[in-house]
Amino acid sequence: MKKIIALLLAAAMMIVAAGCGGGQSASSGSGSSSGSGGKQITMGFSQIGAESEWRTANTESIKQAAKDAGINLQFSDAQQKQENQIKAIRSFIAQGVDIIAFVPIVETGWDTVLKEAKDAKIPVIVVDRDVKLSDDSLYVAKIGTDSVKEGNNVFKWIDEYMAKEKKTPRDGGSQYNVVILEGTVGSSVAIRRQEGFKDAMAKAADAGKYNILASQTGEFTRQKGQEVMESFLKSYGPKIDILFAHNDDMALGAIQAIEKAGLKPGKDITIISIDGVKGMFQAMIDGKANCTVECNPLQGPLLMETAKKILAGEKVEKLVYVDEGVFPADVAAKTLPERKY
Ligand code: AHR
Repeated sequence: MKKIIALLLAAAMMIVAAGCGGGQSASSGSGSSSGSGGKQITMGFSQIGAESEWRTANTESIKQAAKDAGINLQFSDAQQKQENQIKAIRSFIAQGVDIIAFVPIVETGWDTVLKEAKDAKIPVIVVDRDVKLSDDSLYVAKIGTDSVKEGNNVFKWIDEYMAKEKKTPRDGGSQYNVVILEGTVGSSVAIRRQEGFKDAMAKAADAGKYNILASQTGEFTRQKGQEVMESFLKSYGPKIDILFAHNDDMALGAIQAIEKAGLKPGKDITIISIDGVKGMFQAMIDGKANCTVECNPLQGPLLMETAKKILAGEKVEKLVYVDEGVFPADVAAKTLPERKY
């Protein structure tokens, strides 16, 4: 009888130990989320890097949301290289994670690796930026922002502002001259923000009032934004009326270049960019910038919720856009204290 009891106790202890130690390294969240097999969910996440204030907020949101959801996040930083993202995704597949999420640095070149994930029966969620694939069934859901709409909103705001302020072109001509700092070459956000801007401009009743003088990549960084703006100023100094930067960081770099050139950013040159980071709000409060069109980086909670639903076998929307607003300088002081990034 004693032997039977000892055997039963040993078996019970083994079951408890297996339940506690199953899966991979546990997240530090309060509770842990389980997939359909009952073990903690492991998500492999490939981030593109840390090129901007926005990206830092995006990474923090994803890490915090994973903790809160009790999801074990395997985080990989690609240092702005697609090849590193592909390597990371392959390593997630080899580890047998439950789900993969990634921010595609550029639109194309994902078919092969996503097919490998599909063959391994690991669902994929695309985050923030878009992908162009031959087969859209290679990912289950996309969570992000509407870049075409952001570009549209930039032009609409400029057009209303120039009319309201009764601005006259700096070179005495009949057109407002625009320079554009573009984001990472080949990224969906850079392509679509530009498309949205040009589209809205072409459709405007007063389209002829605008002339795009120059448009070049500033790679979404402050440093490059400053350098490219310096070269724009050298080539076209007194002609430039408007700067559209595809993100706030490049606009903040450009502001430094404009000041160095002895001009007043936000006054001599109207400045609008996309993101809505605190640094841009401060620049608007200081009178050095005019508007930011929001691109919401706080995508973590929706990502984790979507991952859980997918793994629970629930149907999810293929495409979900997060909410975004437009913030001109006159609301900056009131809004800054409420900003979360
Ligand atoms: O993909 C979103 C863009 O990437 C943000 O506008 C920019 O700041 C970031 O680096």
